[in-house]
Amino acid sequence: MEHHLFFLSLVTLFGTLSTLHVPKLDDLSDHDYLHKEVPSYFSKSCCNYNEPNAEDEMNIFIDCRGIINDKYKLQRPKPTGQDEEDRITMISWIWNRTTCFSYCFLHKQGMANEDGTINVETAMKKQKKSIPELVDPEAWTNIEKLCTKPNDDDKETYVCKKDALHFSGCVHDISEYYCPDALQSKGESCVKYREDTKNKYGI
Ligand SMILES: *[C@@H]1O[C@H](CO)[C@@H](O)[C@H](O)[C@H]1NC(C)=O
Repeated sequence: MEHHLFFLSLVTLFGTLSTLHVPKLDDLSDHDYLHKEVPSYFSKSCCNYNEPNAEDEMNIFIDCRGIINDKYKLQRPKPTGQDEEDRITMISWIWNRTTCFSYCFLHKQGMANEDGTINVETAMKKQKKSIPELVDPEAWTNIEKLCTKPNDDDKETYVCKKDALHFSGCVHDISEYYCPDALQSKGESCVKYREDTKNKYGI
């Protein structure tokens, strides 16, 4: 599930981005910005975990897309013609959509509480079930310790709490880092990704 969750968040992010005009997007350097802020969204998978059936997640995905449009009214902002202002609004819109989508997605599966925090017990149980190949107990200790709450010094606020988005990206990073040797991609970018993860989370 976790890899589908990651995949679906990615689709949402790009679904959001693809509603922008692409040349404009390049002008806005959203890619650069997002690359810095959410590097895990851009890292390909470096671990060959089995992909479980994603049908249920797909339905939740469709529901949540509707919810972020209707409930949170997160429609694409109208450009004002002021480039810098438009850029800031656009980035804030992308973050608002992405945090709300992640929250909705986890909440519908019982992994996030009503208030946006992670339901640690359910989330851990579901993640363990979805990545049975990840057997290193240290990986699970770190996921619980590092992923269930976002960093305190990140003071930005969005329409939805960041906990769910942080959880998804963090579980992705940590599970990739602890990938069993036999399933690991050894390419240069994967070696670097594991190295970056180690530094980013201090593991
Ligand atoms: C994003 O959310 C913040 C916090 O609720 C809000 O102040 C901001 O206007 C939102 N941005 C957009 C573009 O909707």
